[in-house]
Amino acid sequence: MSLLVDACLGHSIPRTPIWIMRQAGRYLPEYQAIRGRHDFLTMLHTPELAAKITLQPIRRFDFDAAIIFSDILVIPEAMGHPFQLKDGLGPCFEEAVDSCESIEKLLVADITQLNYVFESISLVRNELDKDKALIGFSGAPWTIATYLVEGGPHKDHRRIRGLMYSDPASLSLLMEKLTRGIIEYVKEQIRAGVDVIQIFDTNAGLLTRNTFERFSLPYLKRIVAAVKEEKVPVILFVKGGNSWLDLIKSTNGDVIGIDWAIPLSEVRSIVGENISLQGNLDPTVLYANRNTIRNEVIELLKSYGTGHRHIFNLGHGIFPDVPLDAVQVLVDTVKEESPKFHFLDKDEIFS
Ligand code: CP3
Repeated sequence: MSLLVDACLGHSIPRTPIWIMRQAGRYLPEYQAIRGRHDFLTMLHTPELAAKITLQPIRRFDFDAAIIFSDILVIPEAMGHPFQLKDGLGPCFEEAVDSCESIEKLLVADITQLNYVFESISLVRNELDKDKALIGFSGAPWTIATYLVEGGPHKDHRRIRGLMYSDPASLSLLMEKLTRGIIEYVKEQIRAGVDVIQIFDTNAGLLTRNTFERFSLPYLKRIVAAVKEEKVPVILFVKGGNSWLDLIKSTNGDVIGIDWAIPLSEVRSIVGENISLQGNLDPTVLYANRNTIRNEVIELLKSYGTGHRHIFNLGHGIFPDVPLDAVQVLVDTVKEESPKFHFLDKDEIFS
């Protein structure tokens, strides 16, 4: 088993595992070298390239887990809505899916169109040491829908937020269609060899507690149940959801991914001991000098405290202009300092 899977399940481990969101990406010169020769979509669609990029951060930093290089927007692609990555704008669709008619026309994802993802997974699994976990992922229905309905990234997301009140039935139909595709997609990733699934509800912070309960939570619960049927742990990253930790816990996921806006000590006291926490270093700490990074990492380890259910990560993705040395300091500090937080407790000594 891997440290990461053990931490998801609450097994005793000698130190805190670490990986970082967007670890396979633009801050790495070896990623930029491939990106200079291929466009982003070619990189996603070519299993040999995707596998190589997935392994780059593991080779350089010896993270405890690899996350498959892909994107949350491959699901819309398999629903007949391919996207383009536009410079300075981000991922954009040719047409927004923002009306009752366009939602009704939408197909449930044809997962066979995503075979290239499953091939990348098998390639990576063959190369990755057995003690490193391979993480598969999907966007949450709500977060994928924010891109589909707006047609791309958007500042205030007023179209999808308006739809919640002007045509909730159509929005629910969209969530239903997305959820069915996502469930098949994550199950197929598990068959191909991933050890853990992370669900990114990156745009959950646009919701109120009530609208989260209505338009995201029920679908997250179904996805979690489907992953758990396969006996694979699931991490829910619900960015901006710190005031609904009780609801997130009620999904029965194994791990809650936490953004940087709340101390882990507080989260732990709210959700209790039977669930693991992932996070939550402010990504901008990596712009600081070596001593500051070390101190911030140690403070975060202290904030979680003693125990085996912490997975070290940033509170969101790494920025593309972060210096490589900073990442090395981060990884070294977690590996050197975290064993102190894993000493045996009384029950383990006497059992
Ligand atoms: O290392 C990893 O974390 C795995 C790969 C990964 C990517 N995207 C690669 C990528 C993962 C897990 C994602 C998820 C993703 N994609 C999310 C949810 C998580 C999050 O970080 O919020 C979202 C909202 C997307 C949609 C998306 N794709 C955005 C907003 C962007 C960035 C646009 C920009 O120009 O900043 C992308 C492109 C993208 N996805 C890149 C990478 C490495 C950059 C591509 C490039 O220009 O080389």
